[in-house]
Amino acid sequence: MNDSLTDHLNSVRTLLTDRLAGSADPREVLRAPELKALYDQIRVLEPSERAPFGQAVNSLKVSLEKRVTAIEAERLAADVESLDVTAPWDAGISADKRPTVLTSDHGSVHPLMRELERVIDIFTRMGFQSYESRQLDDDFHMFGSLNFPEGHPARDGYDTFRTTDGLIAPAHTSTMQHRILLEGREKLEVGGQIAAISYGRVFRNEDIDPTHEHTFYQVEGVFVSKAATLGDMLGTLRGFFQTYYGQTLRIKTQPAYFPFVEPGLEFLIEKPASLDGKGGEWLEMLGCGMIHPNVLEQAGIDPMQYRGFAWGGGVDRLVMLKYGIEDVRHFESGKLAFLKEFA
Ligand code: DAH
Repeated sequence: MNDSLTDHLNSVRTLLTDRLAGSADPREVLRAPELKALYDQIRVLEPSERAPFGQAVNSLKVSLEKRVTAIEAERLAADVESLDVTAPWDAGISADKRPTVLTSDHGSVHPLMRELERVIDIFTRMGFQSYESRQLDDDFHMFGSLNFPEGHPARDGYDTFRTTDGLIAPAHTSTMQHRILLEGREKLEVGGQIAAISYGRVFRNEDIDPTHEHTFYQVEGVFVSKAATLGDMLGTLRGFFQTYYGQTLRIKTQPAYFPFVEPGLEFLIEKPASLDGKGGEWLEMLGCGMIHPNVLEQAGIDPMQYRGFAWGGGVDRLVMLKYGIEDVRHFESGKLAFLKEFA
């Protein structure tokens, strides 16, 4: 190929490459008249010049196409704002790009979450600190720290889901007790008390039916001081239930076994007439008791100096009674007809 053809080709290459960088639609450059003129030129060349010039023009076109594709990809990537999929939905998205379909006026708070907020609110006003429970924990927090020795049959009562590497999807919010006690220990040392709740999702590998779900919510309470008594516990729980249901309630307890309390009790309320109670109908609302000395000791709290009470129960059941919901499975069903009743 003679020098003037080579020079010409190079000048068109430079021209089009520069144009590509500045063009709003780089693909347009592939249809540039200068490129078309090069193809037209092939036909009028000496036969000996045609093949090498034709190949050179083709390879210019191929390299321009590659550049166009690369520029398009770069621009696309720059256009899409990076998104942290684990962050709250609107984090990192500038206000004008937030999808309007997700604003809260298009939906409503799930009834369980709304009621959970109420529960937390009542205990907060009573002076309890609140902690969200974990959705993955270890054997020590779920069992060991709560006085369930290895191989203890009471472990079998919990139908726990486990991961292949031995972690547990907690079957109760008691899984937070040890952490709460550890964190609160300092307060005891300066004459204070521990008053905390932990709330959150819990999981059990059991057959589901109208009163059993594999995923549900619990609230746990822990109170420790120099002088806590079972009477304080009953007063606290009665106060909570009366506030939550907005009326005076009859309560009673019956003995129950949980390795982390001694004595252990079940706490019952009489189903009130306003919630369809016929009188004399007792409902088990939660498990409770005086914290077992071994549990305090494991958290470095001297059981000879301090005593405490704890309780834990399901939120779903609380809400079902309040609204006369007959099937616990509605909560996790995502059925709009059900959810809209609470919107
Ligand atoms: N963690 C128990 C359960 O889910 C409930 C419970 C019973 C919690 C007694 C307590 C307690 O804190 O003292 O079956």
